[in-house]
Amino acid sequence: MPELFIGLMSGTSLDAIDAVLVDLSSQTPQQIAAHSHPLPAALRAQLLTLCHGGRTDELRQMAALDVDLGRLFAEAALALIQRAAIPAAEVRAIGSHGQTVRHAPDHNPPFSVQIGDPNIIAQLAGITTIADFRRRYAILRCEWLGQGAHLVRLLRCRAAEDRVALNIGGMANITILPSDLRQPVTGFDTGPGNVLMDAWAARHLGTTQDDEGRWAESALYHEPLLATLLSDTYFQRPPPKSTGREYFNMAWLEAKLGQLDSVPEPAAVQASLLILTAQSIAAAIQRYAPHAQRVLACGGGVHNVALMRQLADRLPGRHVASTQTLGLDPDWVEAQAFAWLAKQTLETRPGNLPSVTGARSAVVLGGIYLANSE
Ligand SMILES: Nc1ncnc2c1ncn2[C@@H]1O[C@H](COP(=O)(O)OP(=O)(O)OP(=O)(O)O)[C@@H](O)[C@H]1O
Ligand SMILES: [Mg+2]
Repeated sequence: MPELFIGLMSGTSLDAIDAVLVDLSSQTPQQIAAHSHPLPAALRAQLLTLCHGGRTDELRQMAALDVDLGRLFAEAALALIQRAAIPAAEVRAIGSHGQTVRHAPDHNPPFSVQIGDPNIIAQLAGITTIADFRRRYAILRCEWLGQGAHLVRLLRCRAAEDRVALNIGGMANITILPSDLRQPVTGFDTGPGNVLMDAWAARHLGTTQDDEGRWAESALYHEPLLATLLSDTYFQRPPPKSTGREYFNMAWLEAKLGQLDSVPEPAAVQASLLILTAQSIAAAIQRYAPHAQRVLACGGGVHNVALMRQLADRLPGRHVASTQTLGLDPDWVEAQAFAWLAKQTLETRPGNLPSVTGARSAVVLGGIYLANSE
């Protein structure tokens, strides 16, 4: 009997809503269908404004966007099941991450805010929806683990091989998977993934991304700029740590550019941003996963060919490849994680898998918003 779940993910890049339909009846998720639901430009612009803060009427703005996004998430789920030609009644639940509009791990107390009302998703899609996973992670102060647990489950192996799972989304994060199952799994955000390159390409090329990193590759990186970027305290801070576009954004980049004697050409800035991402990931792996032989990458950054090349160059002797090499489509890994988390929660099972992640306690994550039976 298939057990169908939907995972919905909308990440820091605000590139699209990822919607995936998976059969979770066996250990390895079977992907039935996937759909990338567009985020209308006006909504994206409003979300960016809210993410960057500083408006006077933020509460009203957030409440309105919570509704708009709830509707859009429901639309994404419905478009997905239509594509798969599967009735809503056959889907057990939706797991929805929500859109992060504020991430403040260093605030006292730490908090992280996701919007996209799950009441609306459950009501419009007619499918029970599980959401609000992150606020439980925040209490545990290990907010990356829940998402990582899915990866840990799929990628940690008993083979004599330490591995690193690398997700290159808006930010980049690593999950370190020692082959010795008694060793704890750890992970953290290494810094920016695609977010700065996207923003710089939007400003100078008018595109949403630098396709395959070709623009970055057209120029040499600017050494003083790269040194200035890498000297930021975030990169020196020991883990655990996580970050977001509240920190790594255009204002951050402009402040760094302002410290230079001369301003580099736009293409040289893009080249420097690409090296910044590659270098900060590589340095984190070298320092905190010195024995990892294999780096398995997922997230949109995997399609940035120039970035992947620079990363591999900086990790000699290690095998750097997409999760696709293990049969896991890098574009849908995160959305699948939320389908899996929804199943865990519905079955009153922990989402943070302490047995494999080393977290102190097992916790059932998220809230359940039941679909009304007609
Ligand atoms: N062909 C490509 N060339 C260059 N960059 C690409 C390409 N395809 C995707 N990307 C990059 O990947 C980004 C989207 O990645 P992804 O969806 O994993 O990030 P996200 O939504 O921010 O997720 P999260 O932050 O949750 O990990 C795009 O914004 C873009 O920068
Ligand atoms: Mg995305």
